[in-house]
Amino acid sequence: MKVIHTVAALQAELSARRAEGKSVGLVPTMGALHAGHASLVDRSVKENDVTVVSVFVNPTQFNDPNDLQKYPRTLEADCALLEQHGAAIAFAPSVEEVYPEPDTRQFSYAPLDTVMEGKYRPGHFNGVCQVVSKLFDMVKPDRAYFGEKDFQQLAIVREMVRQMHFPLEIKGCPIVREADGLALSSRNKRLTPEQRTEALQISQTLFASVEYAKTHTVPETKQFVEDRIAAAPGLRLEYFSLVDGNTLQDVSAWDDSAYIVGCITVFCGEVRLIDNIKYKE
Ligand code: PAF
Repeated sequence: MKVIHTVAALQAELSARRAEGKSVGLVPTMGALHAGHASLVDRSVKENDVTVVSVFVNPTQFNDPNDLQKYPRTLEADCALLEQHGAAIAFAPSVEEVYPEPDTRQFSYAPLDTVMEGKYRPGHFNGVCQVVSKLFDMVKPDRAYFGEKDFQQLAIVREMVRQMHFPLEIKGCPIVREADGLALSSRNKRLTPEQRTEALQISQTLFASVEYAKTHTVPETKQFVEDRIAAAPGLRLEYFSLVDGNTLQDVSAWDDSAYIVGCITVFCGEVRLIDNIKYKE
């Protein structure tokens, strides 16, 4: 596996591979890689000749400077994992390489980006679209892989690709969970052992709510989740929304849509964790 730090070297490498007729898969990441990322890499390796994994903690998508500063950076371990999973290129550029000058572009995909994370993390999705569109331009992949854990991000990236006519396919990949149900996240590394136990209530509550939903209304199910998280020690709910999986707009009854997803964000101490679950698809 090659570890590349500049756009020029990346593009030289990729044009050589493309001249040989090879297809290219891109897995965009911010590093601190875990089995969830590995599942995206595995899928890309299976579906493409060359897999590029970008490892870049993108400053423009952090609305909280503390979160940016604390974001785990583990390039050496990341490269070991990527090599093991058959990635051809780890692309780990500096901030100056990606943003030689400030990116002033404004992306707006309302109403997809104004709800949930868009409401609580102003500017977050603009930063995501800035970096992802740059990565698409730099790598020109045939396919790009995103996890469904960031459910809203996936919907917004799909919309960006549609509106900007990027000639590539977006592949959404299922959430990977620990054996006990906790959704894998780079942020889990920041949890103390006690918080790790407390955080379990997030996925447990979502799983229980799917059962509960079978005999209760949408507002009752929403209340069930809110009450359980409020009663869980160490957790603070930011929001729980039951939305149409395509439009991301709130539903008020199970008949409102054929595709209903519950998206949750919870603080465990200082660590902000997200998760989601499907009620109908
Ligand atoms: O999901 C992430 O890790 C990031 O938002 C992404 C897509 C790599 C852009 O920085």
